[in-house]
Amino acid sequence: MTCRDFPKLFGIVVNLREFSLNDAEDIAHLMSYNVSKYLYEVPNPYTIEDAINFIKSAHSDFNSLTAIHFAIEYKGKSEPGNNLVCVGAISLKNIDLVNKKANLGYWIGEQYWNSGIASECIRLIIDYAFSTELELKEVSAYVFPENKASIQVLEKNGMKKKGEVNEYHQMCGGYRNSLKYVIQESDRER
Ligand SMILES: CC(C)(COP(=O)(O)OP(=O)(O)OC[C@H]1O[C@@H](n2cnc3c(N)ncnc32)[C@H](O)[C@@H]1OP(=O)(O)O)[C@@H](O)C(=O)NCCC(=O)NCCS
Repeated sequence: MTCRDFPKLFGIVVNLREFSLNDAEDIAHLMSYNVSKYLYEVPNPYTIEDAINFIKSAHSDFNSLTAIHFAIEYKGKSEPGNNLVCVGAISLKNIDLVNKKANLGYWIGEQYWNSGIASECIRLIIDYAFSTELELKEVSAYVFPENKASIQVLEKNGMKKKGEVNEYHQMCGGYRNSLKYVIQESDRER
């Protein structure tokens, strides 16, 4: 599927939109150690070049519909008429249109934590995954057991713990335990 328009999702505290290369500086600045240590694929330190490479791969992932990476715009501290600030990213990754499933990944810059941003982003992206546009049936997320804030935002959005896996992650320098969380479209109908 190519040449489709990038979706724009609107919430109360955030809008989700396509990344542009203009976001590279913000992303590199926001990707601190305390953010990247909870992610599986992000190097530390994180440079502007890393951010540019991420944005370019986000565009090609969308063209091949293997992943959809949204820039998170926060409405909280913006003045009317000003551009909204990019405060993080949320992605549907490993999109499998045959088996109708995808994985969820997200991060928010530290100075914006605990403002309800991730909670709303996850709600928006799950709604989008199950919408008539993608028609997925299942969304999964993997989280380190010590990442209590992330577990909280998954559970708040109806995701259920399905088990624990122990896997090798090159960025983490070895094997790590992760909890697998899942939501199925049928959970929404109950
Ligand atoms: C996890 C993360 C995305 C949460 O983003 P956020 O915008 O701060 O999330 P929200 O403000 O919507 O919600 C945070 C919730 O966690 C709770 N929380 C925060 N720290 C907590 C802790 N140490 N223990 C338990 N709960 C905690 C908050 O109280 C809040 O819950 P509530 O709204 O029910 O009170 C953010 O901390 C982050 O980017 N972390 C680093 C990257 C990461 O972990 N990504 C996810 C990988 S699976």
